[in-house]
Formats: sequence, structure tokens, C-alpha cells
Amino acid sequence: MSKYVGPVEFPCEITLGRGLEGAITNVTKIGAVNGVEGKLIYRGYDIKTLCDHSNYEEVAYLLIYGNLPTQSEMSAFSAELKREGEMPAPIMRMIEGLPRDAHPMNALQAAVAAAGCFDKEGWEVTKHTSDPAAALEIERKVGIRILARTRSFASAIARAQMGKDLLQPNPDLGFTANYLYMMSGEVPDETMCEVMDVCLILQADHGMNASTFTSMVVHSSLADMYSTMAAAIGSLRGPLHGGANEAALNDFMSIGGPDKAAAWVEQRFAQGKKIIGFGHRVYKALDPRAVVLKQYAEKLCREKGFGDLYDTVETVERETLKRMEAAGKKIYPNVDYYSGLVYHALGFPTQLFPVIFAVARTAGWLARVLEYLPENRIFRPRAVYDGASDLKYVPMGER
Ligand SMILES: CC(C)(COP(=O)(O)OP(=O)(O)OC[C@H]1O[C@@H](n2cnc3c(N)ncnc32)[C@H](O)[C@@H]1OP(=O)(O)O)[C@@H](O)C(=O)NCCC(=O)NCCS
Repeated sequence: MSKYVGPVEFPCEITLGRGLEGAITNVTKIGAVNGVEGKLIYRGYDIKTLCDHSNYEEVAYLLIYGNLPTQSEMSAFSAELKREGEMPAPIMRMIEGLPRDAHPMNALQAAVAAAGCFDKEGWEVTKHTSDPAAALEIERKVGIRILARTRSFASAIARAQMGKDLLQPNPDLGFTANYLYMMSGEVPDETMCEVMDVCLILQADHGMNASTFTSMVVHSSLADMYSTMAAAIGSLRGPLHGGANEAALNDFMSIGGPDKAAAWVEQRFAQGKKIIGFGHRVYKALDPRAVVLKQYAEKLCREKGFGDLYDTVETVERETLKRMEAAGKKIYPNVDYYSGLVYHALGFPTQLFPVIFAVARTAGWLARVLEYLPENRIFRPRAVYDGASDLKYVPMGER
């Protein structure tokens, strides 16, 4: 039996916890989290191997198509991402018209949903017809368009919030370099692209997390791909999920230095508050993504003059781990503990962190909904009713 997934025959017997803990949505070949050993694989490849040898475009292809591309497949996919990354003019105007202090995740969700109104191919999807293979092709094409555009919208939102003119993608640059270029207006150097690629790879897919489940639920009603992705962005926004990188950095910045970190952790525990960036539903070992990001965080923070902040974060980690160990809890830093620090050192405003996560995760959302489409059955769990019954209606004036 695989250590990632056991054979599942539906219906099957499972033990459920709150928050659908233990529930199984479907059988997948896309990726798996091994929470006991602290491993993450995409299509059979260890995440560390992909970070060392690949880039985000190639990993997106791998997730969506199921295999590493040949040179010509990669060239065609890159060309498609370039072509599809152009933003429709009305959406650019819409982004410019949003309040500058709006949360970028709300803006991104609005931009993706609004872009669906301009893409007839997107909402006239033929999956209702008798040709499922053609429907799958169209869904994939529209999904790749959304992936490219989400990246462009993310950059445009950042730029609009800085009060700068929006930029369309530079046709000479790849997906990741364009993400950075469209935000700053400058062609990024190779090192910056490499770090960004690693961050995007690490967040591209992660089992049946809340936003991925959201995408599956929405798409299972045969809703269009724009509605699906916009809903997933909404699900990712909260501090228990993709918003944790932003919340964690805000906490770290408020501590006031490494010498205050131990007292901060003590107070946090005394107040019964969580340490954002710690804990995970599945990992009961170190999150392998945090292991990679910690190295980048330290290197970048020391290079860019944020050594004190890094030391603060490491002290919080050490103090928290001590307490977790004493309490017998297997709770460790997750991806969001160090990702925010990397983005901060790269110069991103804190509010943008969850948006970077959303850009990365779009590939995972797309891969998962496409995989489920041929065997689609609408998601429909139950709630247990524990309320009153047989109440008599009392007219308003008599209440
Ligand atoms: C990720 C998370 C939402 C998983 O939630 P979950 O599987 O429902 O786990 P729970 O919140 O029920 O936590 C289980 C136990 O671990 C503790 N715990 C979990 N995360 C903790 C954290 N970050 N700090 C302190 N204690 C934590 C809980 O207090 C609880 O303890 P108890 O059993 O004594 O009551 C949760 O760990 C969390 O809120 N972490 C902080 C937010 C975060 O970093 N999110 C990004 C995830 S990638």
C-alpha cells in the first residue's frame, strides 16, 4: 500500500472529525501530503526535487497535464501563458477604480470574477453537451487563461495600489519574471526569479485544503471556471489558510526584536492565542515547505538588513517548539511561517502575500477540478440538525 494514499472503494468507512477531518473527496493522482514523514509530492515528484531543478511554469504543466513536458510541449505551454496573460482593458479600468486600501485578495477575487463576464468561451462551456472530451479541453484552455490572467491581475492590483500605471505582460519574459516585472516595471534579475519560482512551486498544490475543496465544490455544480477560481480565492483569503503569511508577518513585526520574542510567546500562550504560521491539519512533522523557505528567509533577511527580524522569528519558533514539545503536541511551523519573511525581504508589501499564494495555487485548483470533471458528482455532505422543531409561528406584534 502506498504511504500516501490507500486504496479506496466508495462507499467506504471513515472516522470523521469536525471540519470534515478524515473525509475523502475523491481519488487523485495529482499530489499528496505525507503528514507523518513531512513529505509533499506533485505527480510523484518530491517537492524538494522540483524546487532544485524546475520552475513554476514547468510545475504548473506537470500538475495540469500529469507529466513533465518535452521541450516542444513546454514551449507551447509558455507561449500560451504569454498569450493569455494579456488583461482585458475593462478589467484594468476596474482594478484602477477600486479603493487603494482595499485588500488585494478582494480585488483579485473581483477581477477574476469580472473577467469571466468578458470570456464567452468561459461561460458557454460545452461540458453540458454530449462530448466530455471536448468539454475537458475547453475547460483546460480557459483554466490556463485564468492562471495567466490571475498572475497579471495580481501584479496590476499591486501597481494600482501604489498609484502607478498598469502594465501588460512583457512578451520577452516568462510567467514568473513577468509577475515581478508587471509589478515593479523593471526586468527582475535571475536570483529574484529563482526565489520567486521556489515560492510559487511550494504553494502550487497541497492536498485537499480549504480553497482546493472550495474549487472542487463550486466546479462540481458545473459552474464555470471563473466562478470556481474566484470562489477558491475567497476561501484562501482567511488567516487560517492563505492569509496566514500576512498575519504572521504582522505579528513578527509587532514583537519589537529578538530579545522580546520569548516574552511575546509566553504572553500569547497565557492568552490562549495561536501562533500564526504554526500547526497543520495533516502535518504532524515539519512541513517540508517551511524547511526550504526557512533557508531562503535567513539568507535574504541577512543580505537585505532584516537580520533582527529573522532572529525574532527564529526565537519565536524555538520558544513555541519548546512549549509544544512540553505539552506533547506535534505542532510545527507551516509554509506560512517563513514565506512572509521571504516576501518581505524581497520587498513585497505585507498585504500582497496571500495574493502570491493565490497565483501559485491556481495551478493546483485547476489540476484538481479538471481531474474530477470526467467522474463529476456534485458535492453534497450533510449537517446534523440539532435545533428546535414544531414551533408555532407567532405574529410580529405578539413577540
Ligand atoms: C492550520 C490550522 C488552521 C489547522 O487547524 P486544525 O486542524 O483545525 O487544528 P486545531 O485548530 O483544532 O488545533 C489542534 C490543537 O493544536 C493547537 N494548535 C493548532 N495550531 C496552533 C497554533 N498555531 N498555535 C498554538 N496552538 C495550536 C490547538 O490549540 C489545538 O489544541 P487543543 O487540542 O489542546 O485544543 C491551525 O493549526 C491554525 O489555526 N494555525 C494557525 C494559522 C495558520 O498558520 N494557518 C496556515 C496553515 S498552512
